Amino acid sequence: AQQYRITLLPGDGIGPEIMAVAVDVLKVVEKKFDLQFEFQEALIGGAAIDATGEPLPAATLDVCRNSDAVLLAAIGGYKWDSLPSHLRPEAGLLGLRAGLELFANLRPAKIIPQLIEASTLKREIVEGVDIMVVRELTGGIYFGKPRGIFETETGQKRGVNTMAYTESEIDRIGRVAFETARKRQSKLCSVDKSNVLEVSQLWRDRITKLGAEYPDVELTHLYVDNAAMQLLRAPKQFDTIVTGNLFGDILSDAAAMLTGSIGMLPSASLGASGPGVFEPVHGSAPDIAGQDKANPLAQVLSAAMMLRYGLNQGAAADFLEKGVLQVLQNGARTGDIMSVGMQLLGCRAMGEALIQVLEE
Ligand code: NAD
Ligand code: IPM
Ligand code: MN
Repeated sequence: AQQYRITLLPGDGIGPEIMAVAVDVLKVVEKKFDLQFEFQEALIGGAAIDATGEPLPAATLDVCRNSDAVLLAAIGGYKWDSLPSHLRPEAGLLGLRAGLELFANLRPAKIIPQLIEASTLKREIVEGVDIMVVRELTGGIYFGKPRGIFETETGQKRGVNTMAYTESEIDRIGRVAFETARKRQSKLCSVDKSNVLEVSQLWRDRITKLGAEYPDVELTHLYVDNAAMQLLRAPKQFDTIVTGNLFGDILSDAAAMLTGSIGMLPSASLGASGPGVFEPVHGSAPDIAGQDKANPLAQVLSAAMMLRYGLNQGAAADFLEKGVLQVLQNGARTGDIMSVGMQLLGCRAMGEALIQVLEE
């Protein structure tokens, strides 16, 4: 059997609940596809702060570096919200992305026919939507300097962050986006705020220049405010979207709601080489943590992305994705995607229902 080392980072809140489901599901994949996963669990986020005082212990980054892929659930929670920013759970996640140089974040938002009733938008608006958001993940305002809370001459506090991109940072995410679009409908929309921000003017300029190398891809540009509006007004106009770190964070949550729930959306964070991190788009959902209410399917679909993009096991990924469609077809629903006539299940029961489908 082909062997893989998988680092598991369950993190906080609903993280451990949804991770448990993904691991059980991956055990079915092992059997069906003659693979062998060597799982290693490591600490990140609030769980790591409580155990070691740091959101990303050096040992965690080491284990991740020495694995074939990293499956992450979610980090964060009220308990750690008043810590200084470099000691918060979120700093652990950002440190992981930076440490592994995962500059490309793929966030697919594809309508699942079985869930159209769960969308807050009308059927005719969302039916057929299939969008891939390519979000830059290791630059922009999340990492730009200077940053901090400083004191002004008049003794006021002043919060500062810097949105910055170099040409090479724009080019490398741009290439990933053009290549991604090429494998889809060959339409790429670049989203920026170049009517106001110089960083966006450089962004648009570089993406436009790159476009000359991809004449087969239809390139368009939108300002981010219009893009947010268009996503809700007429989402079917989009195929692949490329944008910076902050705009991509916001637009991918908006795109999530087209599909019915953020509890359904996976993502893949990839670098030029080395292991990728695969994680749901959603967070640790502290409002429902510990209540067995979380939807584990974004985590399961993240495991599928891990199989496809991280381990090159496309058939196993297809198998998981089909299983998810089938369990939904059977009427299984967690609260976030519940609609009339369906069967309401908890996180664990949804996992069990899925495993039953996969083992059939
Ligand atoms: P969130 O995504 O955790 O939750 C937003 C809403 O969606 C909540 O009502 C939650 O109950 C619901 N939700 C999310 N995932 C769900 C699931 N799988 N099933 C059912 N419902 C689900 O966002 P938030 O509340 O703004 O943030 C909570 C914490 O998570 C914060 O500390 C934040 O920093 C962190 N966060 C972490 C990640 C990550 O680890 N990648 C991503 C986003 C937010
Ligand atoms: C996400 C999250 C993170 C981000 C936070 C928790 C740092 O919202 O993965 O979308 O902003 O990137
Ligand atoms: Mn986010």
